Amino acid sequence: MKKKIGRNDPCWCGSGKKYKQCHWAFDEKLQELADEGHPVPRRDMIKTPEQVEKIRESCRINVAVLDEIDKQMHEGMTTADIDKIVYDVTTDMGGIPAPLHYEGFPYSVCTSVNDQVCHGFPSKDVVLRAGDIVNVDVSTNLNGYYSDSSRMYCFGELDPTVRRLVDVTRESVEKGLAQVQPWGFMGDMGQAVHDHCTENGFSVVREFGGHGIGLEFHEDPWVGFNSRKGREIVLAPGMVFTIEPMVNMGKPEIYIDPDNDWEVYTRDGKPSAQWEIQVLVTETGHEVLCW
Ligand code: MF3
Ligand code: CO
Repeated sequence: MKKKIGRNDPCWCGSGKKYKQCHWAFDEKLQELADEGHPVPRRDMIKTPEQVEKIRESCRINVAVLDEIDKQMHEGMTTADIDKIVYDVTTDMGGIPAPLHYEGFPYSVCTSVNDQVCHGFPSKDVVLRAGDIVNVDVSTNLNGYYSDSSRMYCFGELDPTVRRLVDVTRESVEKGLAQVQPWGFMGDMGQAVHDHCTENGFSVVREFGGHGIGLEFHEDPWVGFNSRKGREIVLAPGMVFTIEPMVNMGKPEIYIDPDNDWEVYTRDGKPSAQWEIQVLVTETGHEVLCW
């Protein structure tokens, strides 16, 4: 049996402050929402300020890696070239590419081109040409703290609908982000993402979503986009998670390459786009930790 913490006892978060001056009101608020029937975050989903600072340092590497890719991206380069940039910049800055050997993933980064939805393998045979789009999904482990974000890169002149797919996907992340606030719900974010994509004639992949992140690469909660306003887990200050919708130009169905069990494609062969941000819920709203 677990004893209830006294108001004058040290807070469970490790701040050293008295419970009543630290997370007491927070716990009261969560209990109120739980009593109303809402799923609420467990304590291990709430990061302490010290943990957030370590996560921020990891995020700095993730952003630096993507900024370097911004600089070096050019037509004619291969996705293997991108893999090398990710490995070199990450390790030069003291980090480890989190995808490398993660559940057997064989590369430092996921590069998903055109009809690839996610988890694309970098390859020297995949040359990026005019009309192509690629998602570069970078994740870093620095001293055991994780960061994860991704950007889209476009080459030459795009088919106008493909251009719109890339732009609408990014806008949907921004609209979702705007819904992230303490004592709101994950579904507020999810519906905002989903509505923007479908209103523009696109579809959102159902099988993959975002995730809590920080002390592990993938933590609870799972962050879906087929959710409704006012539903799903309560958002509380200290939660860190990703928003990363995979948006298809055509139908939402996907197909996983049976040869490697990793690479995911759209079933209808039409293009798919994704942007990913890592966000912290704060006392007053949110903070983007990396994009
Ligand atoms: N970066 C992906 C995400 O956004 C995870 C990829 S798993 C890997 O969650 F092994 F492929 F890296
Ligand atoms: Co992610």
